[in-house]
Amino acid sequence: MDSLIGLVNRIQRACTVLGDHGGDSALPTLWEALPSVAVVGGQSSGKSSVLESIVGRDFLPRGSGIVTRRPLVLQLHKTEDGVQEHAEFLHLPRKRFTDFSKVRVEIEEETDRLTGKSKQISHVPIHLSIYSPNVVNLTLIDLPGLTKVAIEGQPESIVQEIENMIYSYIEKPNCLILAITPANQDIATSDAIKVARQVDPTGERTFGVLTKLDLMDKGTNALDVLEDRSYRLRNPWVGVVNRSQADINRNIDMLAARQRECEFFATSPDYSHLASKMGSEYLARLLSKHLESVIRAQIPGIASLITRSIDELEAEMAHLGRPVAVDVGAQLYTILELCRAFERVFKEHLDGGRPGGNR
Ligand code: GDP
Ligand code: NA
Ligand code: MG
Repeated sequence: MDSLIGLVNRIQRACTVLGDHGGDSALPTLWEALPSVAVVGGQSSGKSSVLESIVGRDFLPRGSGIVTRRPLVLQLHKTEDGVQEHAEFLHLPRKRFTDFSKVRVEIEEETDRLTGKSKQISHVPIHLSIYSPNVVNLTLIDLPGLTKVAIEGQPESIVQEIENMIYSYIEKPNCLILAITPANQDIATSDAIKVARQVDPTGERTFGVLTKLDLMDKGTNALDVLEDRSYRLRNPWVGVVNRSQADINRNIDMLAARQRECEFFATSPDYSHLASKMGSEYLARLLSKHLESVIRAQIPGIASLITRSIDELEAEMAHLGRPVAVDVGAQLYTILELCRAFERVFKEHLDGGRPGGNR
């Protein structure tokens, strides 16, 4: 059976497809209700690096300035061993990417397709699925970095626009917030923690991630944060060590970097006692587990929204009647079928409720 996260991923894609038609069915509401994990933080805090470490692949655009200018909905699907790792974009169905440097190029080009080369931002997400035996089932949304000043060629308003876009995701009560905070800066001024506190004051759905632990001044450490004595959240903070710019320039392999990160924690006099709960692999497992439990708790709500969507889709189909737009009709029909399938599966999860029975 599909994992719960996998099911929600498919609904998410269906919602996006329908969203492209500007439909005002119940699906946008459904999309609102779907649990997800949004990655927030200041520019250069290490957001892209954390995502790449979680995936174990090098595939995100990089550079200075505002690189991420459209939300990237990144759906990770764990496959059986032996299946070749590959990526697929929702906007390029049937095209399989096995070369991840081409994934980066496609993200850049697809970003520009909507925003022009103007460096504006757009709310329309790019959907990317990665299939790999080396990932956990997880959906992450990469968002533009918080910034304080517009750069050359960008309107002043972009600062506020980015903040608004981030809030539009993280204010949803079902959105887990991955708050990326660099350890080599004053944590009290962390942009990520600042916005997370606004929408989640008790820290119930916020996961603090401390990056750049390797760049802290000699003689200092982040134990106060990692051991929950300052900036307490409900969930434990996770420290990570990503590749440095020099590592990236030297093309240090992601798997070698993961290995080195493990060694950093295992051999650090400050952090070795926390080693089993640090690092990007641990972070990925923690998030996957948490996301699944949020979805499980939401099943009744999602199921009833799906029932509503089915009703509305049926009405919409009836209204379309003759194939004015064959495409739209076919699409609605596919989504309708998908919703019916979900209704059945969610019912099973609800009735059967096998604990943890998702693999
Ligand atoms: P983003 O703008 O938040 O997506 O940040 P990036 O992931 O692009 O990282 C910005 C810069 O910080 C890059 O040069 C990374 O190599 C570097 N960086 C990120 N995390 C770490 C880390 O844990 N340690 C070190 N040494 N450098 C890091
Ligand atoms: Na950046
Ligand atoms: Mg980035």
